[in-house]
Amino acid sequence: MKTIPTKLLLLALAVAPLAGMVMAAKSPRQARAAQIARGEYLVTYGGCGDCHTPLKMGERGPEPDLSRLLSGHPEQLHLPPPPKLDNSPWFAATAGMTAWTGPWGVSYAANLTPDQNTGLGIWTEAMFLQAMRTGKHYGIGRDILPPMPWQNLAALTDDDLKAIYAFLRSIPAIKNRVPDPVSPSGESFE
Ligand code: HEC
Repeated sequence: MKTIPTKLLLLALAVAPLAGMVMAAKSPRQARAAQIARGEYLVTYGGCGDCHTPLKMGERGPEPDLSRLLSGHPEQLHLPPPPKLDNSPWFAATAGMTAWTGPWGVSYAANLTPDQNTGLGIWTEAMFLQAMRTGKHYGIGRDILPPMPWQNLAALTDDDLKAIYAFLRSIPAIKNRVPDPVSPSGESFE
């Protein structure tokens, strides 16, 4: 029986891991898809939809309206003045989970879809990272208001924040102009 020459065997052993690496390397498209999937996973676990997806009435009560996924407080939903909560153990209230009132005034969950003018359209990845790290509107403006849990996002790695951004860019754009927040004295912040 013919034996395999030692040289050939060594060559095969040297090349095998290389071949494995080539096969494991992802194409840019696969890498992008994996990044978006990671972002979806983080957005689901992070409960972003709890505040950023409007509710609709289902058979068993309110449920997320997935046709308006992450599109923020509905612009057509005009609310009466918020309840007075002074001197009460109740310090915050919500209307539909997308509008909130408390000592900071009234805040409305933002449109996180890629819509150009009303969503994250003009946001760059760098702006998104800076806003989530600093708690500043657009990364440079006023403080981001409660109950937006930006402090939790600030604890994520850059890769995870970039994955969230990539996922948010991949969902359907929904045109919905969320109202500006209102300060405790009733004025607009901007
Ligand atoms: C408890 C409710 C709540 C949850 C949960 C929540 N948000 Fe928000 N988010 C808000 C509110 C309210 C605002 C508007 C704050 C403001 O106007 O300052 C906001 C604003 C934002 C903004 C705009 C910030 C800016 O600079 O104006 C981004 C981006 C954002 N949220 C992303 C997310 C992501 C991503 C998640 C999930 C990891 C998430 N939010 C979870 C309530 C929430």
